[in-house]
Parts: sequence; C-alpha cells; structure tokens
Amino acid sequence: MKITTIILAAGKGTRMRSELPKILHKIANRSLLQHVYDTVKQLENNTIKIVVGYGAELVTSTLKDLNADWVEQKQQLGTGHAVQQVFDIHSTSAGQASTGAGHEGIADTDTVLILCGDVPLLKLATIQSLIAKVDEQSMALLTANLANPYGYGRIVRDTAGQVVKIVEEKDASASEKQIDEINTGIMAIKGRQLKKWLSRLNNNNAQGEYYLTDVIAMAVADQVNIVTSQPRTEDEVLGINNRIQLSHLERVYQQEQAYSLMEQGVTLRDPMRFDQRGSIVSLGQDIEIDINVILEGKNSVGSHVKIGANTNIKNSTIGDNVEILANCIIENAVIGQGSRIGPFARLRPESVLAEDVHIGNFVEIKKSSVAAGSKINHLSYIGDTTVGSKVNIGAGTITCNYDGVNKFRTIIEDGAFIGSDTQLVAPVTIGKNATIGAGSTITKDSPENQLTLSRAKQMTVAGWQRPVKKET
Ligand code: UD1
Ligand code: CA
Repeated sequence: MKITTIILAAGKGTRMRSELPKILHKIANRSLLQHVYDTVKQLENNTIKIVVGYGAELVTSTLKDLNADWVEQKQQLGTGHAVQQVFDIHSTSAGQASTGAGHEGIADTDTVLILCGDVPLLKLATIQSLIAKVDEQSMALLTANLANPYGYGRIVRDTAGQVVKIVEEKDASASEKQIDEINTGIMAIKGRQLKKWLSRLNNNNAQGEYYLTDVIAMAVADQVNIVTSQPRTEDEVLGINNRIQLSHLERVYQQEQAYSLMEQGVTLRDPMRFDQRGSIVSLGQDIEIDINVILEGKNSVGSHVKIGANTNIKNSTIGDNVEILANCIIENAVIGQGSRIGPFARLRPESVLAEDVHIGNFVEIKKSSVAAGSKINHLSYIGDTTVGSKVNIGAGTITCNYDGVNKFRTIIEDGAFIGSDTQLVAPVTIGKNATIGAGSTITKDSPENQLTLSRAKQMTVAGWQRPVKKET
C-alpha cells in the first residue's frame, strides 16, 4: 500500500503573537513541524507533502533537509483549500473551483493521510491503526471525547451511531455544541475519493472557508463508511495555538522522556524537573540524575554515572562511574571513566578527559586533552593545551593561549606539578615531572625534573613603620 501524507502547515498562528510561523516554534528544541515529520517519516512507502503559506520561505529554508514536497497555499482559505493545492484544484475566495492538470503524483489507490503541523505529539501507533482502517469503501477519522470541546469541529452521529457529518463550532446549533466528540483534524482517505470530494467543496459557511471537514457528509452521501478511532491519550491530538499550550505539550513530552528513561533503569530525583532536548545514543545502568538537569543534542552516558543538580550536558560522552557535581556546563566533551567534575565546572568544546581526571570548581577547559589521573581542582583556565597523565595543576593557573590575534598550544608533560597562580604563556612546554613554583609567569620551555620559577625576590624593609593619622 502506498501512502501520501499531507501535513497542513500554512496557518499563521496569530495567537502565538510571534514573528515566527507557529510550526517553527519548538518542543524540546525541535520545531513542531519537525516533530510531525519525524513521526510520519517512519511509515514505509510514504510520500510526504507539506502545505505551507504564512512564512513559507522561512519554513522551507529552516527545514530544507526534510525529505518532503513543499506545496504553497498562497491564501489561507481553509483546510479544504489547503488540501486542494496538493491536488492542483483551485478554488477562489469568490467560491469557484477548477481542476488543474496534474495532481502531483497522488494515485487513486494511495491512502492519503492528513495531519496538522501544529499537533506535534501524535504517535506512530495511532497513525498506523487509523491507516489500517482505510479501504475503497471506508475512510478513517481520528476523534476524541473532550471535557471541553469548545472551538473544535463536532462529530455528528445518527441514532444508530453512524457518523453523519462534522460541524464546526461557528456553524453548530445549540444541541450540536453539546457534543463532546471532536474532530482532531486527522483523517485518512483513498486518493480517488478525496480528489472527487475536494473538487465539490464550497465556502458557504460561517467562516467563508473551504472546510476539509465537509468531505465527511459527501462520503456519507456516497455510501462510504466513516470509521473512527481514538488516540491512547488526549495529549496526542492536542494542537498548539498559543504559548500556554506550547508549554503544556513541552511538559507532556518531557515527562514521557523522563518516564522512558526511568523504565530503562535511570534514577531521576524528580521527573518533572528533567529536560532532554535531543537523544541519548547509549545509556548505561544505574545512572542517577539530580534535579534541573538538561541533556541537549546527542549524549552518551555510561553506567553508575551521577549527575548533580543544575547541570547542562550537550553532545558529550560520559564514561562509566563518572561523577558530575552540581552546576556544571559541559559541551562537546568526552569524560573518561571514573572522572569527577565540578561543582561549577565548565567543559567547553573539544575537552577530552581520560580516566580518573579531577576537574574542580570554577575551572574552565577548552580544546584540551587531559590524560589519566590529572587534577585541575580550583579556579583555572586551561585552553588549547595537552596535559599529560598524573599532572597536578594548582589553583588559579591560567594558560595564556591568545595573543589577541592567534592562539597557541601549551604542552604539560606527564607528572608535572604547576604551582598555584601560574601563567603559562603559550606556546610553551613544561617537561616531564617538572615543577613550576607558585606565582610564576612561564614564557620559556621548562625542563624535565627541575624546579622552574619566575618570581620577584621577597624582601623585608627593616625598621619600616606604618603611617599614623595626623591630628588636625
Ligand atoms: C480544524 C477543523 C476542526 C478540528 C480542528 C482540530 C476544519 C474546517 N476544521 O479547525 O474540525 O476540530 O481543526 O484542531 O478543518 N491550515 C492551512 N491552511 C488553511 C487553514 C488551515 O494549512 O487555509 C492548517 C493550519 O495551519 C493548521 C490546520 O490546518 O495546521 C488546522 O487549521 P486551523 O485553522 O487550526 O483549523 P480549525 O479552524 O481549528
Ligand atoms: Ca486549530
């Protein structure tokens, strides 16, 4: 069976009060439209067509990597009009319809699935069971019973329980407004039928729009069965119209991810205070994550890792038995097993730490490798540096890697001891097992095994006395 999926995404989203088209707003750092696309692209034998209108150029350039056909709806004359564009059927605001030549490769036998770009959390399983109900005699409609159905199209059924039509809120009678079964906007129909019904749509209704929902009454007239199915949860079919709904679905999505991680054996101190904006590439066992941790991009987390409160980790690989204390920012870094980071440490891109490395508070590492067992425990900046194994870098040590124009490397060989408050002016090499005296400014290579220091000699002024306050 061949499927054509049409994602409706031409609307402006006025209630977002935003310059950005609604579908480019994000949940877990992924646009709403991308969520819908990522779900539906998992279907086999599926061609995806996306109807864009408001901000079309921005939408297509932002999401240029999607493997989909973009169809432009120049004026937003309704959901039916939007689908007409895909079939090259042209209706005007005056209400005339004309059928164009081609219909962009949608075969009569295709099952056409219609989704909304602003309903981001719809599940693949729900789509699959909807599609399974479609054949030459039946179309499928996804409906939901809502405690507050206000604003939605209502599903009108006859006394035998058969669907008769969909009526929009603005066109509904007082008794129809009492119906709590609503149209989610998601349906599946054979191409042949949809094409036929689309060309019969008109805009004689309260909103002067071409309603896609009018095809339901046409299907009934043509003796096609209307089969309905429902999602597992209401959240799956919730659309986003404003930023309050956006934040609600963000929480729903985050909670789903949190529960999934817990099911995989991760301890989350509070699943409501955990955010993952991306994916976990590999996950060990018995990981403990404290509150307000954000995982972004693609991360890999080993077994027995502990992550402290308020820590952000992005695109990083964390080895087994690593402990990350509270308030760390870690990006594009590799942390070897058994290492201990933080609290208040920052690992910037291309920080590569081997096993059993200690990075302490107020330490920043950038584009540097640190070999096994080395310690940089307090108040340091280490940039563009190769640190050997078992190196001890004292508090307040800074690599001066930048002359204002170019950057240079510092090399600190195995076993070196760098005294506190040292500046290493790159390019410079500190030899194996070298010791640097505290407070030094090192501008020349320092030999192995020896003490090197640069420091003004300490002196004491004999007989010096403190000034005293003058009497006035
Ligand atoms: C539509 C349904 C309603 C359903 C509701 C579910 C119709 C007539 N009504 O109502 O029964 O309960 O969705 O949310 O279909 N869009 C376009 N081009 C347009 C108009 C809309 O692409 O000209 C897109 C929007 O961007 C959006 C989707 O279609 O993604 C739904 O449009 P919206 O205006 O929200 O439809 P509703 O009036 O809420
Ligand atoms: Ca809507």
